[in-house]
Amino acid sequence: MASHSTGAPLPTLPEGFLAALRQIVDDKGLLTAAEEILPHVTEQRGRFVGATACVVKPATTQEVAEVMKLCCDHNVAVVPQGGNTGLVSAGIAFAEDRAIILSLSRMNRVRNLDPLNNTMTVEAGCILQNIQDAAARVDRFFPLSLGSEGTCQIGGNIASNAGGINVIRYGNSRALVLGLEVVTAEGEVWDGLRSLRKDNTGYDLKQLFIGSEGTLGVITAAVLKLFPATKERSTAFIALGQLEDALPLLSLAQSVIGEALNSFELIPRIGMDFALKHAQDITDPLAQPHDWYVLLEASAGTQQANLPTLFESYLELALEKGWITDAALAQNTAQADSFWRLRENITLCQKAEGGSIKHDISVPLSVIPAFIRKANAAVEAYLPTIRPYPFGHIGDGNIHYNLSQPIAMDKDEYLAHWDALNRIVHDIVVEMGGSISAEHGIGRVKLKENLHYKSPLEIRMMQQIKQSLDPKNLMNPGKLLPDTRK
Ligand code: MLT
Ligand code: ZN
Repeated sequence: MASHSTGAPLPTLPEGFLAALRQIVDDKGLLTAAEEILPHVTEQRGRFVGATACVVKPATTQEVAEVMKLCCDHNVAVVPQGGNTGLVSAGIAFAEDRAIILSLSRMNRVRNLDPLNNTMTVEAGCILQNIQDAAARVDRFFPLSLGSEGTCQIGGNIASNAGGINVIRYGNSRALVLGLEVVTAEGEVWDGLRSLRKDNTGYDLKQLFIGSEGTLGVITAAVLKLFPATKERSTAFIALGQLEDALPLLSLAQSVIGEALNSFELIPRIGMDFALKHAQDITDPLAQPHDWYVLLEASAGTQQANLPTLFESYLELALEKGWITDAALAQNTAQADSFWRLRENITLCQKAEGGSIKHDISVPLSVIPAFIRKANAAVEAYLPTIRPYPFGHIGDGNIHYNLSQPIAMDKDEYLAHWDALNRIVHDIVVEMGGSISAEHGIGRVKLKENLHYKSPLEIRMMQQIKQSLDPKNLMNPGKLLPDTRK
């Protein structure tokens, strides 16, 4: 899993194909020079470099449809791409994919904002943060929020069913989409841009495309759900008595703070150490070091929610029970932002400590502490000097169970243990009724693992769906499901 390209030769495109593409999208919509293509085939962390003959960038749904029709007629496979911030290489073309990349980045208009209906219709290439800002300008809130929100695009968020830090309250992307516009593998336009909260007219086709990682069609636009803008926000950084206390602490938050609870994130001491060591402008919110922390946030769309008072009674009760040993309650926006900066750096600072073997797992919430302890024991039995680095969305039962390399080991030597460590961790996940990909998806990186753990029946039903929507298997072949082309 170290940085590599596959080395497979890049197949040539059918004669006349590039000229036909150029006719559809013009010169500014077609990249063929190696240096222009490179950022589109380089995984954001630089772990993989793919290869493609061209990147096509249509500016309208009609252009996407024409491109797809052309590709279908010439049997050319297509990898739809958003901001290229994905973590499983679903949006990158590799040489053996024999595919072109279709970038949605020029389709970045907000088509409609309807505050009274609490909806917004956006094109796939809109940057997530721009969507949040556009909603805020009409006194509304769009809750999808994740580390790469300044660069990721909503089409990619939807295609990968992205999660993030507000899932506990608002759900993942799947729960935030009311309608979709999709260009099919054969170049037809499905206008499913309904902005309805009730629509009981048959199969919910949009849900098929959400989370399908570009393997069924090209998402070109979406209707998103909006919520009242935040008027009050409270954020606390809490030291746990022990890992197991996270569970009663969450239940207590749900009963005392109630539905206003947005985020409940786990941070281990090793994460705090990495962030303090490697990031600028980070301070430990608490006076003493602790083994485990929770970052908790609630917000309300009214000014009468009394969140600070609720937080104080919550923290008092938790202290009385012995579930927490210390806590800092943000006194202003700057302090709340500094807690979140710390959380963001828990993710970013692993890189500075060498190789990290990553797992994005979920198990039922009630067994999260047991999972972490069991997995730690198992990976330490395999490699005693390994540094387990479990963090993330504990409120959703989703832990990024990452494993940082032993201090004295060479990075490549460590990364050679990738598959073995995946198997150790994923066996425990599955035995505990969990999932090997909670929010990052499958893409190319987890394809083998997914095939190993999913039942043959489940894989077969997925293949049958793909076959009916993409009969020539031209949509992102080799991602999520095996490439069945000759
Ligand atoms: C996070 O929650 O920080 C990300 O999903 C984890 C990651 O980038 O690995
Ligand atoms: Zn995450």
